[in-house]
Amino acid sequence: MNLILLGPPAAGKGTQAQWILRDFDVVHVSTGDMLRKAIADGTDLGKLAKPLIDAGKLVPDDIVNGIIQEWLRAADPGKGIVFDGFPRTVAQAQALDEMLANVGRKIDAVVSIQVNEQVVVERIGGRWSCPKDGAVYHATNCPPQVIGKCDRCGADLIQRDDDKPEKIVERYKQYLEKTMPLVDYYRAQGTLLPIDGTRDTQAVYGEIQAALATL
Ligand code: AP5
Ligand code: MG
Repeated sequence: MNLILLGPPAAGKGTQAQWILRDFDVVHVSTGDMLRKAIADGTDLGKLAKPLIDAGKLVPDDIVNGIIQEWLRAADPGKGIVFDGFPRTVAQAQALDEMLANVGRKIDAVVSIQVNEQVVVERIGGRWSCPKDGAVYHATNCPPQVIGKCDRCGADLIQRDDDKPEKIVERYKQYLEKTMPLVDYYRAQGTLLPIDGTRDTQAVYGEIQAALATL
């Protein structure tokens, strides 16, 4: 099973990916995590991406398509894939369809997690992320067992640079302009599964499980 997690910033894509990974035979690929790692490692890709991410803008399509193309080449063919934060534009979605067709795969479902801007702002304000393994927490909604430490690997949790209130406005605007059209793109392909993302994490995951069971 190959899935896309689609939704605005802080919709819960990374959070739901963690649950899906626990229950399905899939691997997780997040372009946001890959770009943040490139920034932390100081690579050329990281240097290119940093000012764009800091400004809440998208990284150019050809760059992220290239990252996914390379990742797909090395992906275990025996496992499904959960795409998180990719594709984010119609051009990326078209490129992904082509890349998957080339390796004999296709998208089976697009989990479209729907939340409004108010929820986005509230969730981003309380988010804590693990810089090592990408795990996500929330100060009140989903706190770690030990404050400031990742439950899984014990690393010190951080607040992402792009989680500042002034940046979220631009990130949400980019979502509306560039990523929302993917809802129609995948609805037309018959793969869209709309999910109410405003409920608590377990309730959202329950809805995702029920939707996936219909496939
Ligand atoms: P990326 O890392 O993909 O960020 P994003 O899409 O903005 O999404 P987030 O990671 O902020 O949110 P999420 O949906 O994963 O929510 P989470 O589970 O953490 O991209 C970052 C940047 O990289 C982009 O702005 C762009 O510049 C660049 N980029 C990446 N991919 C790109 C691409 N394909 N093309 C071009 N540029 C690209 O949850 C958020 C918080 O809410 C957490 O604290 C969590 O604990 C809490 N929470 C989650 N679910 C619930 C719930 N149901 N109830 C209560 N709290 C909840
Ligand atoms: Mg995320």
